[in-house]
Amino acid sequence: MVILGIETSCDETGVGLLRDNKILVNLVASQDDIHRPYGGIMPELASRGHVSKIDRLFRLALKKSKLSPDKIDLIGVTTGPGLKGSLLVGASFSRGLSYRLGKPIYPVDHLQAHLAANFIGQGKYTFPALGLVISGGHTSLFYLSNYTEFKLIGRTLDDACGEAFDKVARILNLSYPGGPEIEKLARKGNPQAIKFPRSLLSKDSLDFSFSGLKTAVLYYVRDHGLKNTADIAASFQEAVKEVLIEKIRRAICRYKVVNFLLGGGVAQNMYIQSGIKNFLEANRMKFYCPEKKMCLDNGAMVAILTYHLHKTGLLPSKGLEIEVFPTTRDR
Ligand code: KG4
Ligand code: ZN
Repeated sequence: MVILGIETSCDETGVGLLRDNKILVNLVASQDDIHRPYGGIMPELASRGHVSKIDRLFRLALKKSKLSPDKIDLIGVTTGPGLKGSLLVGASFSRGLSYRLGKPIYPVDHLQAHLAANFIGQGKYTFPALGLVISGGHTSLFYLSNYTEFKLIGRTLDDACGEAFDKVARILNLSYPGGPEIEKLARKGNPQAIKFPRSLLSKDSLDFSFSGLKTAVLYYVRDHGLKNTADIAASFQEAVKEVLIEKIRRAICRYKVVNFLLGGGVAQNMYIQSGIKNFLEANRMKFYCPEKKMCLDNGAMVAILTYHLHKTGLLPSKGLEIEVFPTTRDR
């Protein structure tokens, strides 16, 4: 079975083709260069970027996998959360394709797809499991009953984890996207140099809050200037890591699971990733994280979730009825 996955929820245009759970091709066109001058994502430019790239990327994916369009059995598309205009580009493109090819189309949740990236090319998983998405727009903790049932058990109340990285990078005069820049700079700094606050909310809460940490960095720079940016970056990263690990500790105490899945752009950060991995393995849990480039937005993660939705027996949408569910204040 050949599955096409289309991802346009934010600033990466992704087209992935899988044969069952294995990647045939996974193309991503990044818009980092478009948004860098603004220090963040400009939604209108993001939508236009997708419009200008999606068709070419789809044709290139077919060429690279040596497939004709009629060989596609299923289409999956991210329908939310994300930027409204961006989501509409992927949804409209997929709708047209589904109509033209007469193939079923599945709406896919972006956050669930980030965790599903772990299932690509893998054997059977043991469920239930826990999963944490740390991305530019979300910090979301899920309880997974199986490959397709995700229950949200914790989420960000203000800034998302990646958003905090991007905003702190701006405070430190680093370029966009800030996450990789902070990780690089932090390697030269001392993570214990500055004790930034760890916002853990109430004793049992599985929710996240990073805006206080970001503000603490802002005040630190206001008071001390930009002399020791490597220490600031390292100490900020350490605070993020500790908060994530504390929430994971609470979650694994409450939910008895063996497997833990990580996903989202921030999961690429080796300091954070290995901190979480070491913690979980010390607690006799199995840790999974997609390879680096699969942590970022891409089409294959959408296709793999589509594959499992289909395998579970869930029915696709009627092609022309597919809707988008953009990010709101509550998502
Ligand atoms: O998952 P993603 O591609 O897009 C969203 O769904 O939001 O994640 C993008 C986010 C950005 O905030 C970026 O700064 C962050 O992931 N990121 C990182 C690293 N690489 C990307 N954050 C920390 N360390 C990194 N190495
Ligand atoms: Zn994402």
